[in-house]
Amino acid sequence: MTFTARRSPRRWGPLVATALFALALAAPASPGSAAVDDSAQTEPRVAADSTIADGLEAMVSDYETRVPTEYTTDSWTPFAEALTTAADVSEDDAATEAEVADAKTELQTAASGLEPLQSTFATITNDTFWNDTDGNPIYSQGGGVFKFGDTYYWYGVHYTGAEYYRDNPTRKYDGDVRFVSIPVYSSQDLVNWTFENEVATTSTSLGSLGGNLGSAGWVGRLGVAYNENTGKYVLPVQMWHPTHDHGVLFLQGDSPTGDFTFGNFQRQVVNSPTTGTGDQTVFTDEDGQDYLIFSNREGRSRAFVSKLRSSDSLYAEPAVEIGRHGDGREGNAMFKLDGEYFMCASDLHGWNTSVNYCLESTQGSVQGDYSDYFTMPGTEMDYSHVTQTGFFVTVEGTEQDTVLYAGDRWADFAWNGIGYNQWVPITDEGDGPQFHSVSQWEFNATTGEWRVGPDNNYILNPDVQADRIIVSNVVGWSRTGSGGVGNVEGGANGSRFALHVNNGSGARQEMEVPAGTYTLGLYTKGSGQVTVTGADGRAHVLNVPSSSGWTERELTGIELPAGTATVTVDGGSGNLTADQFSLVRQGGEDPDPGDSTRYEAESSPAVCSGTIDADHAGFSGSGFCNGDNADNAYAEFTVQASAAGTATLDLRFANGSSAARPADVIVNGSTVETASLPTTGSWTGWTTQTVTVQLDAGANTIRLDPTTANGLPNIDYLDVEQASG
Ligand code: GCU
Ligand code: CA
Repeated sequence: MTFTARRSPRRWGPLVATALFALALAAPASPGSAAVDDSAQTEPRVAADSTIADGLEAMVSDYETRVPTEYTTDSWTPFAEALTTAADVSEDDAATEAEVADAKTELQTAASGLEPLQSTFATITNDTFWNDTDGNPIYSQGGGVFKFGDTYYWYGVHYTGAEYYRDNPTRKYDGDVRFVSIPVYSSQDLVNWTFENEVATTSTSLGSLGGNLGSAGWVGRLGVAYNENTGKYVLPVQMWHPTHDHGVLFLQGDSPTGDFTFGNFQRQVVNSPTTGTGDQTVFTDEDGQDYLIFSNREGRSRAFVSKLRSSDSLYAEPAVEIGRHGDGREGNAMFKLDGEYFMCASDLHGWNTSVNYCLESTQGSVQGDYSDYFTMPGTEMDYSHVTQTGFFVTVEGTEQDTVLYAGDRWADFAWNGIGYNQWVPITDEGDGPQFHSVSQWEFNATTGEWRVGPDNNYILNPDVQADRIIVSNVVGWSRTGSGGVGNVEGGANGSRFALHVNNGSGARQEMEVPAGTYTLGLYTKGSGQVTVTGADGRAHVLNVPSSSGWTERELTGIELPAGTATVTVDGGSGNLTADQFSLVRQGGEDPDPGDSTRYEAESSPAVCSGTIDADHAGFSGSGFCNGDNADNAYAEFTVQASAAGTATLDLRFANGSSAARPADVIVNGSTVETASLPTTGSWTGWTTQTVTVQLDAGANTIRLDPTTANGLPNIDYLDVEQASG
């Protein structure tokens, strides 16, 4: 979300946008003589200082902290070589800038190939304000996450209004987008973020343009690209400046977390009809080529993909238009999934929430043909988890590819609920991307796997904030009676809106739930009934007695089978106003899944009495343990427990033989049970068997000892999950 200038915060409504579109159609596609495109033709103004060697030195000392026992040997070897070379170049005073850049690129490439032996699920909780690993607020909007080497870096803008909003979320602020800084955070798991630096601040100089970032009227919408040629990290950001006009400001730094300095200012990208950009992000393709993804500033009807110049990334080359829509689209961002490119964007109606409108490449070419706009499935029920399109991160995991959708909830301007950053997974369900609107989920950045979190709220648009305006049909809820399903101002706990049903009308929502025992929670005013009906047809009714003020209500012990559950809100013979709905699974079968740790059977400290093979597809990591066909041919894992207590072991195996291959599970020398390890039909038929054991604090050995002369099935890994204490 951006706007043109702080002093004129009025946004283009759809009607204005349509009018602009008509004008845009009448005008020639190229800028023509009316739009002066000076900086597009001139050479970039490159900052004079060159501290590229410092960047390499910082990178080397960071990578020297990696430990070989944590990675597969195959991935460690090239990394260790690149690290030695880079360290040599870093210490060589005679090294040229080109040699330094090459050493950086090679080290970064080798580091990006590092394959950790263990991987962990970490929890993303939406609808909250996020903190960094020091417990300080994360202020990052309109930016992007980029992977350099083995580390993710998150850049975005810190605005003054974001602080006010966090201090008091139950009011609207009037678009206070005063620029504070561009912070950068780093993470290995995309969940725990460590604050590194403010790469730019109000005092960052605008170089030959004159002035500093503090004198700009708008700074926002940015990304970072690594340039292999210069060894620099380039940050294109939208800027509007009272004396310098609209344009793309290119800052650059010598390390992902260093101080960035002025690189270039490009007022207009060739083929875009206006100066500046509507909204923009940076997309890096698998081949390392970086692109600016943007819409034209006024009207925003056209979507563009522009290559960043390969010599230094400080200039956006003539843009290729990939789609048009008269209503205008903004928040433009790109991801790649299963060989096709997707450019998705939001409505054009000002700091608001929106479905994701996407274009899909039809030939697998980033600047080639694209489909017409379509709505990404899963974004309609609650306007993309009450956000505007922010950016995407494609995670190529060892098990699956998952795209992380990073939505911006510009709540300080629009008052749409708690938390700025709402991240959810997107997967390919066979017929294109599917958006999973979850309030809590667990993600494994190594394997790419995700699962719904234990405290997920299965009700969508539960706080009735998605519409942001008074409507007669609230998004996500459908009517059951004659009246509409409206919203009213004055929600529970100071929130902005609540759901309102009159005498004779009602609202319902359907959702897919896993089997379990659930708790329904909500706040009500007035009287009526709220019913949860399971896929088995059983109705669980909460009668709401009359109250004039907001009252918290709860119904526990709701047994639901897996399948579609329905929540129905009824006014009965009166009026019911309801807000802050939750339908959350109670702990039970899965006592706080917490974080599980994976131990691969093919890697030390695991022991395999047999061979490490890789001839049956579908295994995790680099292979599996093929135990000898003998009754003493065991597989043994050494696992760590942070405290003594119960742990769940998920053993993954394949048994292509026709008989079960039972094995004793021996924990620290004592047999605790015999795992059945039945046939799985084929050697590629990998499956998981769960065993619950007691572990000591610290290291524990877990041995699988076959009870027959057939030996073990092929063993892939052991996932260990400790019960919460
Ligand atoms: C086959 C198969 C092996 C397996 C073995 C066995 O040889 O390819 O992966 O371990 O059978 O019976 O154990
Ligand atoms: Ca075998």
